[in-house]
Amino acid sequence: MVSSGMKRYRQRTDDQARLIGDAATTPLNTAELFGRSAPVRLEVGFGHGRFLSQMAEVHPEVDFIGVEQQDLRVTKTAHQSNKRGAQNVRLYWDDAHRFVRERLSPGSLERAYVLFSDPWPKPRHRRRRLMNRSFLLDMAWALQPGGRLIIASDTHNYALQALTNCSTLPGMWRNCYQPQGYRINIPTRFPTVFEQHKKAEGCSICYLMLERTKHEPLPRAAYPGLNGGSPLRRGDHARGNAT
Ligand SMILES: C[S@@+](CC[C@H](N)C(=O)[O-])C[C@H]1O[C@@H](n2cnc3c(N)ncnc32)[C@H](O)[C@@H]1O
Repeated sequence: MVSSGMKRYRQRTDDQARLIGDAATTPLNTAELFGRSAPVRLEVGFGHGRFLSQMAEVHPEVDFIGVEQQDLRVTKTAHQSNKRGAQNVRLYWDDAHRFVRERLSPGSLERAYVLFSDPWPKPRHRRRRLMNRSFLLDMAWALQPGGRLIIASDTHNYALQALTNCSTLPGMWRNCYQPQGYRINIPTRFPTVFEQHKKAEGCSICYLMLERTKHEPLPRAAYPGLNGGSPLRRGDHARGNAT
């Protein structure tokens, strides 16, 4: 069911399309993509794109890549970025894990954000969670040494599961939030749409900050794809499944 507000994003304008990347499966050349050599940050599952477009607006010296599985949200975020005059953004309609694995060259990212990744709370659905060991290993390949992975979730057991999965990748991540390993309800400069809703409901939010060490990454692990089955390709997601 597509809300009436989202229906307008079924058609893309040329200005929106300029910020939306191709569906290739080859690694991106970010210098070619942005026409310059600048630090690159990634947001995974950017939803309605408020955080991504705000960050791009206030950090014109950084290039931002976003990947999101709902195409209307991709178009909406292109619209938001244009409204803010942020042209240092490229958006991809794709599965985040495949994108990180196939399209990001080793060491190409300065920072990555995974903010309120779908928590799949039912025990029988937990294997669908994105931040499994294989994803975190691919993320370790994509980040440069000293690069940071920022995670936020209102589902604390999911955030802690991501930490446990990182601990199975020895030497690759340094936890910046010692001694607890996480922080609860820290102020954020640009809260995401989801974060704002959850805070308004009185939920507490768990934040992680992990730094990529200088260690060589381990060999890549098997790619489970979405839902633990064969990987979905772009376009497999139901079109217009935006809420
Ligand atoms: C709970 S929403 C949070 C959106 C946004 N980060 C926020 O905090 O407002 C999760 C988002 O991640 C996207 N998503 C979930 N799994 C994904 C995947 N495997 N690849 C790309 N995007 C994904 C969903 O479509 C949704 O927009």
